[in-house]
Amino acid sequence: QKSKKERAWEIYGLSRDYYRLLLSKEVGQRAMQYLAKRNLTKTSQETFQLGYAPAGWDALTKYLLSKGVSRDELVKLGLAQSKENGCYDRFRDRVIFPIWDSQGRVVGFGGRTMGDDPPKYLNSPEGEYFNKGKLLYALHISRRGIREQGFAVLLEGYIDVVSVYQRGVTNAVASLGTAFTREQGRLLMSYTHNVVIAYDGDAAGVKAAIRAAEILQELGCKATIATIPDGMDPDDFIQAQGLEGWSNMIAKALPLVQIKLLQAVKQYGIGNSASKQRILQEVLPNLAAVASSIELEEAVQHTATVLQVNWETVLDEIKSYRINNR
Ligand code: UTP
Ligand code: MN
Ligand code: MN
Ligand code: MN
Ligand code: MN
Repeated sequence: QKSKKERAWEIYGLSRDYYRLLLSKEVGQRAMQYLAKRNLTKTSQETFQLGYAPAGWDALTKYLLSKGVSRDELVKLGLAQSKENGCYDRFRDRVIFPIWDSQGRVVGFGGRTMGDDPPKYLNSPEGEYFNKGKLLYALHISRRGIREQGFAVLLEGYIDVVSVYQRGVTNAVASLGTAFTREQGRLLMSYTHNVVIAYDGDAAGVKAAIRAAEILQELGCKATIATIPDGMDPDDFIQAQGLEGWSNMIAKALPLVQIKLLQAVKQYGIGNSASKQRILQEVLPNLAAVASSIELEEAVQHTATVLQVNWETVLDEIKSYRINNR
């Protein structure tokens, strides 16, 4: 007798196989062309088990019913919606990205539109099996690379991971958007305590990267932030700059304090003592959170240099911040 979970994995697995098969057929031709246009190779399609959910209303539903899956199961697993006169597939005319748990079992799907009908990505509904905030995309594929290289790269999106992987970056996972959670942090930390965050080079990405770094740091994980040029994401970047450009960019990842300083200087300028004070207030919580004394010394020195003040002044501020926030 299978457990409920095992049954769910089985049904998601059947769905994945069905979507994969359709991608290779006539009906999947547009999806195939879409993947070609995105420069995603055949090997990537295999490794990441990409598929195609056909247009029409109930292709998957019919297929799964024929395999002995019940309507009730289909609905509960978020694969179909029940309406008065039947069951309708959730994913229609979309390129399918299976989403796995850390053991490689399929627990849901992300479906990308090939046109511009929103949402850009439709995901499995949040529920018993699929929790965005508890998963890291491609962790079971990249965990070996993470172990070998001693660090993980944290990205936003499905395509980012696939794109960098096929160009040789085998230690990347994605948080499925910008809302990185403590649970995702803990999950990642069972594989490494060293993370480089490379979110999209837009305002939302920078803000979210800072937040993710704060979460990781609170959990005791070393986290640095890489800067992707404005308007690009990891996929765009590695297509433009190649693996060498990518590696250089990752090597230049900066600690949280430095990123926040850069942002605050951009926002307030360092023209007068009032703005310097504001900038210092912004980074104080992060400075105070630095645990290692060597890292703290570096951060203090860096902050003092940027603000053109004495390092003793910075250190004094940190000390009183720590006392006041004990
Ligand atoms: P992005 O908007 O940055 O998309 O979302 P992307 O990964 O660059 O995709 P392309 O290149 O436009 O195809 C990053 C991630 O956020 C989640 C997905 O996991 C996506 O990969 N997301 C985004 C959604 O779940 N739904 C959406 O509508 C948009
Ligand atoms: Mn650990
Ligand atoms: Mn984005
Ligand atoms: Mn993209
Ligand atoms: Mn993006």
